[in-house]
This record gives sequence, C-alpha cells and structure tokens, in this order.
Amino acid sequence: MTVEDCVIISKKNIAKGVFDIWVKCPQIVAEAKAGQFIDVKCDNFTLRRPISICDIDNKKGQIRLVFEIRGEGTDWLAAKNVGDCIDLLGPLGNGFFLGKTDKPAVFVGGGIGVPPLLAASKPFGANATAILGFRSACAVILKEDYEHNGASVTICTDDGTAGRHGLVTVPLEERLDAQECAVVFACGPKQMLKAVARICDKRGVMCFVSMEERMACGVGACLSCACKVKYEGEEKYFHVCKNGPVFNAKTIVW
Ligand SMILES: Cc1cc2nc3c(=O)[nH]c(=O)nc-3n(C[C@H](O)[C@H](O)[C@H](O)COP(=O)(O)OP(=O)(O)OC[C@H]3O[C@@H](n4cnc5c(N)ncnc54)[C@H](O)[C@@H]3O)c2cc1C
Ligand code: FES
Repeated sequence: MTVEDCVIISKKNIAKGVFDIWVKCPQIVAEAKAGQFIDVKCDNFTLRRPISICDIDNKKGQIRLVFEIRGEGTDWLAAKNVGDCIDLLGPLGNGFFLGKTDKPAVFVGGGIGVPPLLAASKPFGANATAILGFRSACAVILKEDYEHNGASVTICTDDGTAGRHGLVTVPLEERLDAQECAVVFACGPKQMLKAVARICDKRGVMCFVSMEERMACGVGACLSCACKVKYEGEEKYFHVCKNGPVFNAKTIVW
C-alpha cells in the first residue's frame, strides 16, 4: 500500500449528498483491483475514512470514488474541488476474486453499496446482470455506468418511484431461477447481504459479499472492524479491513 497526494481531476454531484470524483494516483492505480478500498485523510482527523474504489482508469492513472456525506469526514471531502489535493492510503483489502468472466454473474447493490461493484462488473460485459436497490428515484446512481459496461440493469426502489417497487431480493430470486448464474457479488446493508447469501446458498450459487464495518486504523491493527467468520471448523473474528472487505458469503456468521 502507498500514501499518495492525489489531485482531484473531476467532481460531480450525482444525487442528494452523493459525490463522484476521479483522482490522479498512479502509484495506487498500479496495484489497485475491483473491490479494494482506499483510506482518505480528511481534514485533521486522526482516523482516515474508508471509501471503495468504484472504477479504475489504468491508462490515466486515476481512480473513481463515489461517496455519500455521512458525517464530518465525508462532508469535508465533499467540499473539495477539482485541482485540490487529497491524501490517500491504498489500495487496501483483498478485492473481488472474479473467476471466469465469460460466465454469467449477478451484481446486487444496495444504496451506497452500488459503487463498489461497478469495476468488478466491467470485465463481465454482457454476462453481467446488475440488480440495484435505492430508497427512491432521486437516489438512483450509476445505472448508465453499469449499462455502458454491457450489464443488463434492474432498478428497485423502496417507494416504487423508479424501476420495480420493493427489495432487490425478489428480482434476484427470479433471475437465479430463470437462467444460469456462476457467481453473485453483493454490497450493501448487512440485512440485504444476509438475504442475498441465503438465496444463493439455497440454490448452490457461489456468493461473495463486500462487508462494511466501522473502521479505525484500516490496516488490521486495532480490531474495531471485527467480523465473525467460520474458519477451519471454528468461529473466529476476522478483520474486515485486512482479511476483507470481500468474503465468501458461506463463511460469514450472520
Ligand atoms: C470497506 C469500506 C468501504 C466503503 N466504501 C464506501 C463508498 O464507496 N462510499 C461511501 O459513501 N461510503 C463508503 N464507506 C462508508 C464510509 O467509510 C463512511 O460513510 C465514512 O467513514 C463516514 O465518515 P464520516 O467522518 O463522514 O462520518 P462519522 O460518522 O463522523 O465518522 C466517525 C468515524 O466512524 C467511522 N465510520 C463511520 N461510518 C463508517 C462506516 N459506514 N464504515 C466504516 N467506518 C465508518 C469513520 O471512518 C470515522 O472514523 C465504506 C466503508 C467501508 C468499511
Ligand atoms: S480498522 Fe483497525 S483492524 Fe480493521
């Protein structure tokens, strides 16, 4: 991992309180892969803030971060502009093991769990199905980006103002029952991940989940991001920041 001073190349406000930035960081890009994250030094806060790598442009040496304002750190980050420098540490975590990208894969994202799956869906092209859930139409993000990569996209909203009315789990079950699927990748609220894991397990479909826990050090030194996992017949605590954030869903003790 590297600490790099990175210039913000572009910035867009893509939904209420949600920002989409590209930053130049050639050293991080050289090592980065889908599903990993970076830790942002925000203002004078001692603890860095973890943000997933949404997309990687190897040619330009840039990564894309899509984040929502949740507190003081992300609020500070959202106030940064094109040309400003931010201090990033990364890439961190294990990332997704994509396997064979010529096989059909389903990507299930919920809310701010949608950005971390975008880079992983890219190499699957038209073999990717994205099922993306949001609170309402005004919170929908990245639909066109998934489509641009070749994925067929189903949007679900809690209030029915865009796409299908209801949870992502309904179209997921329909998709898995209708057509072959080699693997499911999921990122979003824990209850959604738990439901996705159960649906996949019932059908014998491989499933990887990207877990989100509150983090402090971000590098495996403090235990604040502990997650209970079945390992060699025993239940153990693993670090989401170091051993994850991506886990085989079968191993998580929900
Ligand atoms: C692996 C990983 C990837 C993430 N990717 C994204 C992303 O792509 N886009 C996005 O919008 N958000 C993402 N998050 C959530 C993001 O890290 C938090 O929203 C952010 O840290 C909140 O910081 P704050 O200062 O604004 O809020 P505060 O609540 O003021 O933060 C206080 C402290 O709690 C920690 N913290 C608070 N919420 C979280 C959280 N959900 N996860 C981890 N630490 C937290 C902060 O890092 C900080 O140390 C990710 C979290 C993890 C663990
Ligand atoms: S955040 Fe410190 S061990 Fe993971």
